[in-house]
Amino acid sequence: MSSTFAVTVQPAARMSGRVRPPGDKSISHRYAMLASIADGPSVIYGYSTGADCASTLGCLRALGVPIEHISRDRETGIHLEILGLQVGGLHRSPTPLDAGNSGSTIRMLSGILAAHPFRTTVTGDASLRRRPMRRIISPLERMGARFISDDGRPPLTLMGTDHLKGIDFQPDVASAQVKSAVLLAGLHADGMTRVVEPMCTRDHTERALEAFGAQVGRAGTSVAIRGGQRLIGGTFHVPGDISSAAFWIVAAAALPGSDVTIEHVGLNPTRTGILDVLRRMGAEVKTVTEHAQAGEPIGIIRVRHANLQPTQITPEEVPGVIDELPVLAALATHGGELSVFGAEELRVKESDRISTLAEGLRLMGGEIDEQPDGFHVRGRNRLRGGEVDAKNDHRLAMAFAIAALGATGPTVIHDAGSAGVSYPEFFTVLESLRA
Ligand code: S3P
Repeated sequence: MSSTFAVTVQPAARMSGRVRPPGDKSISHRYAMLASIADGPSVIYGYSTGADCASTLGCLRALGVPIEHISRDRETGIHLEILGLQVGGLHRSPTPLDAGNSGSTIRMLSGILAAHPFRTTVTGDASLRRRPMRRIISPLERMGARFISDDGRPPLTLMGTDHLKGIDFQPDVASAQVKSAVLLAGLHADGMTRVVEPMCTRDHTERALEAFGAQVGRAGTSVAIRGGQRLIGGTFHVPGDISSAAFWIVAAAALPGSDVTIEHVGLNPTRTGILDVLRRMGAEVKTVTEHAQAGEPIGIIRVRHANLQPTQITPEEVPGVIDELPVLAALATHGGELSVFGAEELRVKESDRISTLAEGLRLMGGEIDEQPDGFHVRGRNRLRGGEVDAKNDHRLAMAFAIAALGATGPTVIHDAGSAGVSYPEFFTVLESLRA
């Protein structure tokens, strides 16, 4: 997918309408990976249309997993059939795997590959090749796998084993990808594997493992899995992605007179931190949980504009809003004020999200101070618009677009096509919601 094209975003008066976001990216990766190592066939509906989740499918196919792409629909996503090869049953890939832009793919898949007694190389695009992997290398090596890397960065060559041993692991960073990599390795290790996180992170892996029939022990920030369990294939429906919906949620909160309803969206409490922040800023946010699929609550979010109040995001809140921080910064440019602390992880995402954000918002006329672990945005004056670079970072491309809606003039966003990593339909939906 080309991500190099530019898009011009015009200011908007208000946003109104209903939208169904694309399938949740985090959950899509997990369902595809677990289905690939389950017993028997699985059917997945609503799989993410984004390039990251296509990277996961490409890697799994290279590992011998039969995956049939049944259909693709702009509203309801991708319908897949995956024939599972059982835990430990993936085949060696003769060629390196390409995880593209996707940190979730390389980190979680490394956990699965650690339990396979062959050598695999996993690489990705220029952004992925800059991202830190020691956080998974070190626990997976303690379990018995071996890695060769370029100073802890991809390409990773890993030598797995079918004699992994369970460990007790306390990661330094609160990362769902790290937790998941270790739990997925633990599924095929001797004895118990336990991860105790510094703070709670998204728990989709735990819920998905249970939905595929595994037993997972959970208490506070501790998660444990006993090795030697099998997974059972089934039918899975991916909820809409609240991190993609976040752009419309924020646009509705920001623009006077707006009223937007998000349908079929995942409401897992480890992901709804953005709604708490918006409520604190004064926006009118209503949610209705309609049902649950595979342990994941799904429902509706309705957001209406109100005058924005200043707020702070504390380090404890960061894991619950980590992917929404760029768009929350965009929200503050519409008249609020936002300080974020303890978010140094933003510097090792698809781009250094603190500096890319600060550079872009300043070019649009915004007031933003950068700190090593966060930022402070003041929305005293309207942005004027201008020309910004998303630096090949999907969430930055979309956050700049939401900031641009409140500017006095147009904004040209370079690298806007990177939105396709998680939300290929983003710019089309943006135009359809303008009222
Ligand atoms: C994700 C976890 C988070 C998040 C990423 C998706 C996941 O990353 O930023 O977009 O699916 O587990 P970290 O685990 O690095 O915090």
